[in-house]
Amino acid sequence: MALTTRFGTRAVHAGSSPDPHTGAVISPISLSTTFAQNSPAVPIGKYEYSRSSNPNRDEFEQAVASLEGAKYGLAFSSGSATTATILQSLSPGSHIISGADVYGGTHRYFTKVAQSHGLEISFTTDLLNNIPTLVRSNTRLIWVESPSNPTLSITDIRAVAQVAKQRSLLLVVDNTFLSPYLQTPLALGADIVVHSVTKYINGHSDVVMGVAVLNDDEIYRQLRFLQNAIGAVPSAFDSWLAHRGLKTLHLRSRASSENAQGIAEALANNIKTGKVLQVNYPGLETHPNRRVVTQQHRDGLGGGMISFRVAGGRRGAEAFCKSTKIFTLAESLGGVESLCEVPALMTHAGIDASERERAGVHDDLVRLSVGIEDGDDLVADVLQALDRATAQVNGVDK
Ligand SMILES: Cc1ncc(COP(=O)(O)O)c(C=O)c1O
Repeated sequence: MALTTRFGTRAVHAGSSPDPHTGAVISPISLSTTFAQNSPAVPIGKYEYSRSSNPNRDEFEQAVASLEGAKYGLAFSSGSATTATILQSLSPGSHIISGADVYGGTHRYFTKVAQSHGLEISFTTDLLNNIPTLVRSNTRLIWVESPSNPTLSITDIRAVAQVAKQRSLLLVVDNTFLSPYLQTPLALGADIVVHSVTKYINGHSDVVMGVAVLNDDEIYRQLRFLQNAIGAVPSAFDSWLAHRGLKTLHLRSRASSENAQGIAEALANNIKTGKVLQVNYPGLETHPNRRVVTQQHRDGLGGGMISFRVAGGRRGAEAFCKSTKIFTLAESLGGVESLCEVPALMTHAGIDASERERAGVHDDLVRLSVGIEDGDDLVADVLQALDRATAQVNGVDK
């Protein structure tokens, strides 16, 4: 069909067309690993072998590319496999400059895998201002997560892209925390956008998958070669599920963002009661980079992720997460259900304590992934958990 340009229409229709053989409106799951050929090396259709390409994966890749405004999409078996494949495209001895508070697994890959394969990494808490001093003759790539995980700090992607262009550096933006509904980094000048599809794009906490989207023909050719050569590809079933999840991305993203705004405001109101020390949420007027948020995010929305420092240190954070009734204590994010966790003990436990503290990942930090339940119920749950945590830390609640 001729696609209109609005997001919701593309979410539902991009990469989807009725099956030419049966008319099925929803694509069948193509489980075959191999495809028949008319004569040697002349396949009947466009497919040969499912690691190289597969109908469900193709459809998913087209859909995400359309939502990010990209020419190409490449799906992988996880967000981490996406990161690994992109780094594999750099020659040994290349240097990367990365934001400091990136996802713990990205940090682990950079420091424990990429470095041992000859890549050099520098981390900084202020990418925009520190690139000129960190850049070396062998710097090839800048890695940005905005909002960052878990401190929700914002990087001005357009400004970093300008610096990257001046120095011929590749800019990769991890857009997992917002999804293409709320932010499209390619339009701001990024070269590659990556997602843990496991999060908002799939949205139902039942698929582990990743994707990269981009416009450049040569980078696409190289990454597509590595996608097949390394082979960290998603199954047809996961591609189909993630494509189904993506069709409601615009509805889920808006709902979780609106719910998160209400919760962030309720938490911020508790700074004066002493139960909360700090709230990190891009939708709050008090966010240090709110000006960039209003330019960079759709309608200035803050997204579905919040982190906050709770009174009582690590005990307070643990008590809060054990006291919620709707929020489930679990890692991950971006699903329809609300989750809470303590990054210093869970997702970011692998990062050295002093480095973690420097990046603002304190022991008392709680991270919330806000789902699409009824917003008033979620606010009530957070406030009762806050009361219970405060009582426990103060020894009132035995
Ligand atoms: C921002 C971000 N990027 C990348 C990843 C890695 O994705 P996956 O778990 O799908 O490998 C995660 C996982 O939590 C993440 O939060």
